[in-house]
Amino acid sequence: MAGKATDPVGFFDSGRGGLCVLEAFRRRLPHERTIYLADTEHCPYGNKPPEEVVARARALTEQLLSQHCKLIVVACNTATAAAIDILRATWPETPFVGMEPAVKPAVLRSKSGIVGVLATAGTFGGRLYRETCARFAKDTRVLTCVADEWVLLVEKGETDGPRAEAAVRACVEPLLAAGADHLVLGCTHFPHLKPVIERVAAGRAAVVDPSDAVARQAVRLLAERGLLNRPSACGHGTCPSPPRLIQ
Ligand code: DGL
Repeated sequence: MAGKATDPVGFFDSGRGGLCVLEAFRRRLPHERTIYLADTEHCPYGNKPPEEVVARARALTEQLLSQHCKLIVVACNTATAAAIDILRATWPETPFVGMEPAVKPAVLRSKSGIVGVLATAGTFGGRLYRETCARFAKDTRVLTCVADEWVLLVEKGETDGPRAEAAVRACVEPLLAAGADHLVLGCTHFPHLKPVIERVAAGRAAVVDPSDAVARQAVRLLAERGLLNRPSACGHGTCPSPPRLIQ
């Protein structure tokens, strides 16, 4: 069923990763109502078989739709890789926005012709990642690193300090040593470690975070469908902090 402008926008992720996308969205449209589902009981998704991730993505979508979400942001690269086509086919009237590894902007800006992508095994195994590289990175060397430990650190709230820095160095140093001048954050947990990543990569590589581009895409889709909430619908223009349902 098509939504109404006053309905909420739904977000989900395996945990707190996707909050960076929610925050980017709320910076652009603070007067929208939002619901965020963190599937912490089933976190991490990154090394689960795609069928399991699809089952979780369907269950979370059903929950969000039962709360009348007018648009759903799959704020998780792994769930996007495994499930976005299935979600769109199952709920054709619901607009979905997924995460795309930001390989294209990194390739366009790279001077060394080498970029590093950090993501989960599930994201690297998906069609979206393969196709994005085939399309935009023909003449670029794309180096990859599965950074599972980062997901666990972020879930524990350890986004800085010696353990976080050691985990970041372990993944990032080999990419920098191989000549990568851009580091693409291909998992929504990773922007939570951005200050550490930027510190480690300082002067050697730029960090590419797609959160805001995804938020922009959600805004665009809402506008196209006439689903933008009016600022006045929330009194003084800003809705109170988003309700968060943690499973
Ligand atoms: N935040 C997720 C992603 O963007 C999932 C990480 C995980 O649960 O392994 O891929």
